[in-house]
Amino acid sequence: MRYLTFALAKGRLARKTLDIFEKIGITCEEMKDPDTRKLIFTNEELKLRFFLAKASDVPTYVEYGAADIGVVGLDTILEEGRNLLEVMDLGFGKCRMCVCGPESAREVLKRNEIIRVASKYPNIAKDYFNNKKNQTVEIIKLNGSVELAPIVGLSEVIVDIVETGTTLRENGLDVLEEICPLSARMVVNQVSLRMEHARIQKLLTDLNTVL
Ligand code: PRP
Repeated sequence: MRYLTFALAKGRLARKTLDIFEKIGITCEEMKDPDTRKLIFTNEELKLRFFLAKASDVPTYVEYGAADIGVVGLDTILEEGRNLLEVMDLGFGKCRMCVCGPESAREVLKRNEIIRVASKYPNIAKDYFNNKKNQTVEIIKLNGSVELAPIVGLSEVIVDIVETGTTLRENGLDVLEEICPLSARMVVNQVSLRMEHARIQKLLTDLNTVL
């Protein structure tokens, strides 16, 4: 039997995923060691391999078949636009993709002017403004702490993830428009789904009993 390889977005999603896998009898003890610098872990009995990757790289590994299966947020899936099959909503990591800014930007948004939008998600931001709202905007790509942008005058608004809303609140910003709800998804390589259909189907069935 060949290994079935999983790419997990490192951080909270990976920890949550491993918790759920444990409930269906899939364990990977060596992955739990918080001090390990190892990148790939195997379960020899079940012929499974797991690796942790930066979230935005997970769809890439799955599209090319270097991983058969990936677990990653819908935000990353939409942003990366890779060719893969989304097979399950895991229901955790729930949050929302939103347009945020100071209350004063609400009016600016309505005026249909060319505004600046800062985001870690330039493709999602572009798609939302150009295709859903028919509005031309200037997108500024940032890599983190995006909430800073409207505060220091880099942009009028941001497109970012809102989970609890604490980051916005503590920085005097609000949700101005909601783009879409988000959560962790399981994605599968197109060829893997055909070649390993029975094993993947069993995994999905088992997961459904605990989710
Ligand atoms: C995310 C997101 C927001 C924050 C939202 O950032 O970009 O900043 O979490 O969560 P909240 O609504 O519960 O406050 P992350 O922690 O991933 O760090 P980053 O800003 O450096 O990307």
